Amino acid sequence: SWTPEAFVEEAVREVRGRVGDKRVLLALSGGVDSSTLAFLLHKAIGDQLVCMFIDQGFMRKGEPERLIEIFKDRFHIPVEYVNARDRFLAQLEGVSDPEEKRRRIGGEFIQVFEEKSRELGPFDYLAQGTLYPDVIESADTNIDPKTGERVAVKIKSHHNVGGLPEDLRFKLVEPLRKLFKDEVRKVGRSLGLPEEIIQRHPFPGPGLAIRIIGEVTAERLNILRDADFVVRDEIKKQKCYQDFWQAFAVLLPIRSVGVMGDKRTYAHPVVLRLISSEDGMTADWSRVPYDLLESISNRIVNEVKGVNRVVYDVTSKPPGTIEWE
Ligand code: XMP
Repeated sequence: SWTPEAFVEEAVREVRGRVGDKRVLLALSGGVDSSTLAFLLHKAIGDQLVCMFIDQGFMRKGEPERLIEIFKDRFHIPVEYVNARDRFLAQLEGVSDPEEKRRRIGGEFIQVFEEKSRELGPFDYLAQGTLYPDVIESADTNIDPKTGERVAVKIKSHHNVGGLPEDLRFKLVEPLRKLFKDEVRKVGRSLGLPEEIIQRHPFPGPGLAIRIIGEVTAERLNILRDADFVVRDEIKKQKCYQDFWQAFAVLLPIRSVGVMGDKRTYAHPVVLRLISSEDGMTADWSRVPYDLLESISNRIVNEVKGVNRVVYDVTSKPPGTIEWE
């Protein structure tokens, strides 16, 4: 029967055989798929693997730092950290349409990825955390007519990117392509990947940028990042992080009146989105205890400057979507 240990052993042998002494590039996102892939490949080929982590500035509070800490300091897996925060923010100036945001972010991602991979390259292979369900409905790869190999035309860690240029159509290394998500978690665990990555809620490629309704600004990002931190911190403290498929805050661009001490406030509301789901295709809003809503609400209004009201989203999917954009 299938065991993660046997899988790892076989995959390591296969990767070594395929890659030989060539260099492999991996776009690390911090999610469970790309992290498991990085651990597996590092075990197989050591420093022939180069992990590139592009910080778009849309991750959660502390996450980029934590990722580097885990990979570099704790597991000695080198990571090329690319701080591209200003570039991505500049791309979003004046943009409020959700799909336009995705296009701009995806386009900039490819741009940065291209520049950086030329700088660090050349690479023969691109490692992708493709899973079995992705292989089945695969629109992001092509078959090379000469060799019959799958070659990359898109970056999997980012659903929203355009195509890679011809000369960067790396050959693919996809050791997770026969696995389902729960098997990836088992493999990750057997490779020593920390639970905080294995159990992390899904997080969209465009990150917090699609959780700020309307224009994304540095100030709004700071507000949302702080509110999002409170949501996660509180559900972890109350030991219910695992009860949710996703749990997050959405920042609205409108303002409403409130009162704090003896002063009138005029600030943004945030929406709490706490949901359960099996696969993200359908979802149910979570019937959480009022006490949990109360402590999250109190903490956000008290701790996050710029927010004076918290509302709870009681819409399931369908007809709602999980994200607000
Ligand atoms: P929706 O909002 O469509 O979300 O119900 C379903 C799942 O997909 C995630 N999501 C995205 N992931 N890029 C991503 O990588 C995106 O643009 C994107 N939009 C939504 C969402 O977080 C949920 O898990």
